[in-house]
Amino acid sequence: MSFIKKLKIGKLSLNSNVFLSPMAGISNYAFRKICLESGCSLVFTEMVSAQSLARGNIKTLRIAKIKDDRPVCEQIFGSDEYIMKEAAMVVEELGPDMIEINASCPMKKIVKTGAGAGLMSTPSLLYRITETVVKSVKLPVSVKIRTGFKPQEETALEIGPNLEKCGISCLQIHLRSVSQIHSGPVNYDIGLKLKEKLKIPLIVNGGVVSRETASLMFEKTGADAISIGRGAVSNPLIFTEISNGLKNIVDEKSKEDERINLFLKFLKLNCEELGERKGIISSRKLIGLWLKNFKNASRLRSEFMKLETLQEVKNLFR
Ligand SMILES: Cc1cc2nc3c(=O)[nH]c(=O)nc-3n(C[C@H](O)[C@H](O)[C@H](O)COP(=O)(O)O)c2cc1C
Repeated sequence: MSFIKKLKIGKLSLNSNVFLSPMAGISNYAFRKICLESGCSLVFTEMVSAQSLARGNIKTLRIAKIKDDRPVCEQIFGSDEYIMKEAAMVVEELGPDMIEINASCPMKKIVKTGAGAGLMSTPSLLYRITETVVKSVKLPVSVKIRTGFKPQEETALEIGPNLEKCGISCLQIHLRSVSQIHSGPVNYDIGLKLKEKLKIPLIVNGGVVSRETASLMFEKTGADAISIGRGAVSNPLIFTEISNGLKNIVDEKSKEDERINLFLKFLKLNCEELGERKGIISSRKLIGLWLKNFKNASRLRSEFMKLETLQEVKNLFR
């Protein structure tokens, strides 16, 4: 695909411009590792609470830990300038390649604290936080935003260029409004208009589930990079398919087998990280998407929900 190219974000050089989106409860170490092995060139962590990081909360630091899953961008959320600064400095010590400020999470419990998409309704605070974080770390900083609060709003077109002036190295946008949460039509037009206003790389996101939708996203927005969320959970091979055009080479049956093998590999890694029972139980969040379009998906899914050991899972998929 001609849209695929190497990309530089600040001093960070990336092999391609197809990334894994941040997803709470999903983009953990094991999943990031699987995506990197499948051809993804930059992974985002799930969003991590700045307050908990700044307090040195052990559980949060464990979630934020980075190992050999690189290049990786650590995403933080919060609404207090000094706590965000503190958190960014804690995160920098963990060794990521980039830091992202979440100004896009639409969940009520986050927005009501002024964090996530709440920051889009207080732009001056968002700019202050961004400037402070940029000044406090040596790593490239990104901000992830939404198009606006309602589908017809174009708030991103004003906020994006102002964030660039705050010194960020790239901007990521989920091309849906806050009120759309994670579904409904994607607004390519705002992606295109935003791209025209920026000098820094723009990462666009929303609704990419195949080579075709990836191509459409690049074509309609002219963006420098795309990030993939749920499409990568249902098919982690999507990164290879987009980059190498493998889709027509691998038949559907081998693809199903490979997806199962990847899932088992993911589970094994997850169990090594979290312990066997927790590793399997916490994977229940992914199984619905992972088995999408499989024959017998609903039976496999309900069987999986009862399992607690790796051997039982292997038996199920055999
Ligand atoms: C379960 C789930 C968790 C998410 N968690 C985060 C998050 O922690 N930080 C963030 O910026 N976006 C988060 N998102 C939004 C995704 O990064 C992405 O913008 C959204 O899913 C649209 O992309 P997609 O259509 O490719 O899935 C989450 C989405 C889902 C479905």
